[in-house]
Amino acid sequence: MSALENLTVRLAKRPIGMPDASTWTIAREPAPTAGDGQVLVKVDAISLDPAMRGWLNEGKSYIDPVGVGDVMRALGVGQVIESNSPAVQVGDWVSGGFGAQSYAAVAAKDVARINIKAAPPERWLGDLGMSGMTAYFGILEVGALKDGEVVVVSAAAGAVGALVGQIAKIKGCTVVGIAGGADKRRYVVETLGFDACIDYKNEDVAAKLKEYCPKGLDVYFDNVGGEILEACLGRLKRGARIVICGAISGYNDFGNIKGPRNYLNLLVNRARMEGFVVFDYAPRYGEAVKQLLTWMGEGKIKSREQVEVGLERFPDALTMLFTGANTGKLVLKVG
Ligand SMILES: NC(=O)c1ccc[n+]([C@@H]2O[C@H](COP(=O)([O-])OP(=O)(O)OC[C@H]3O[C@@H](n4cnc5c(N)ncnc54)[C@H](OP(=O)(O)O)[C@@H]3O)[C@@H](O)[C@H]2O)c1
Repeated sequence: MSALENLTVRLAKRPIGMPDASTWTIAREPAPTAGDGQVLVKVDAISLDPAMRGWLNEGKSYIDPVGVGDVMRALGVGQVIESNSPAVQVGDWVSGGFGAQSYAAVAAKDVARINIKAAPPERWLGDLGMSGMTAYFGILEVGALKDGEVVVVSAAAGAVGALVGQIAKIKGCTVVGIAGGADKRRYVVETLGFDACIDYKNEDVAAKLKEYCPKGLDVYFDNVGGEILEACLGRLKRGARIVICGAISGYNDFGNIKGPRNYLNLLVNRARMEGFVVFDYAPRYGEAVKQLLTWMGEGKIKSREQVEVGLERFPDALTMLFTGANTGKLVLKVG
């Protein structure tokens, strides 16, 4: 143990419904030191992700749940301050699964170097991190996007959705976003350059889809599930693809997810609906980062991070994803 103080966010108990302050224990502990083959990272920022809610539930998913008493799992970026590996040097900036804490001792083989001259650290959690990889492989590979198609994306002002729509615009598609509130609707059209955006909190999604996609949609990139998925299932073109990226509308009440009632539209339209987990594309992340950096350099992608400050804010900041209080990639600076 070192003399450094480690602020940690640990899971105190499994939440029912929306997590709150009682879900977490925030404590000051002695920081770990780097063991054999490990590096000690001073964590600069962590990524806040809707998937975190799923990791709090008991039971098998695509990844084990976080154990009660464990440091909350989180992707992070930071700087190496001790190294017991020739592969990583003190001073290197790296990303990895550092957890919600200020210092992390991790195997050197499990960190990736990031170039903070190319983009600021928080962008390596957003468009150049897991959110960006999800958008890139989700729309291009799972969605099998073709130039000029009609694309609809939900949670359009969020980390994944905003990038999905911008990639589709680069590919010459007609892009319709769905987001909550007039401010987000304006942001999606005026700043991100989508062709239209539906404010699902104040507008009739099915009616607006009919207006904006009069001949139907080729790809629906689903981040939210629920009634919005059902409305999009009602506008499929023949051969359409629905990318199941997430279903945030049900994450706090997973046991009661219903529908979609009209899934037989997949049959009628010879369409398909396919889920994916971004980690399966890890061997190809480098290819995506290179392309995204090129597009950024050409001014074709606008990145936005919403940065909250202080690990103590973790409980409140996490819930922002479920109330829609974030625009762009939600990041927590360790402070
Ligand atoms: N499959 C994978 O490998 C993978 C990887 C990463 C992320 N994901 C998924 O991608 C989706 C987006 O994640 P993100 O990190 O980019 O989050 P995000 O979009 O930045 O933030 C979540 C957004 O979801 C919207 N939302 C919350 N509750 C909603 C509801 N009941 N109905 C409709 N919209 C709601 C809110 O926007 P509004 O204000 O517009 O409501 C909120 O800002 C999530 O479902 C996540 O689980 C999947």
